[in-house]
Amino acid sequence: MTTARLLGSLDIPGTSVAPSLARDYLREILDPAQHAVDDAVLCVSELVTNAVTHTASGRGGKVHVSVAEYADGGVLVEVADDGADTEPVPVRLAEEMSSHGRGLFLVEQIAAAWSHRRGPSGTITWFVVRPPDRRRETAVASGVDAGAMG
Ligand SMILES: Nc1ncnc2c1ncn2[C@@H]1O[C@H](COP(=O)(O)OP(=O)(O)OP(=O)(O)O)[C@@H](O)[C@H]1O
Ligand SMILES: [Mg+2]
Repeated sequence: MTTARLLGSLDIPGTSVAPSLARDYLREILDPAQHAVDDAVLCVSELVTNAVTHTASGRGGKVHVSVAEYADGGVLVEVADDGADTEPVPVRLAEEMSSHGRGLFLVEQIAAAWSHRRGPSGTITWFVVRPPDRRRETAVASGVDAGAMG
């Protein structure tokens, strides 16, 4: 089984600044040359926002974010919250026109995989993003005009 190597982890107070602290943390520890930083930042922002909005983390609790990488540059991010009566489930067709319920749908579209499991104090919601597309690098290395790649 492929294991991910831990790059770092962070405890954040479950306040309104938590999503932005999580975004900053990922930008600090991930490398755009190796990791799909923007995808990971977008997904972590949705998951931390959910932890603060929908769980006890947002009522005086905290959010724990951990970041790990696979050998191929894939990134695994786990967001542990303080628990709720609900579960992280994307909103489906019937509620499609709703003004909320888009966060997990977005994560589902962007991440290579995502899910959730029970954690020590609540729920751990996680996702994996694939490494960035290396076509351009490969083209430059082999002498192809990168501008022609669009
Ligand atoms: N960490 C979590 N623990 C428990 N329930 C969750 C968690 N995250 C999400 N949920 C539940 O899943 C639902 C869908 O989450 P999603 O992020 O897709 O939408 P939303 O947060 O309601 O709205 P939006 O993200 O568009 O502002 C939430 O309304 C909530 O009921
Ligand atoms: Mg949400």
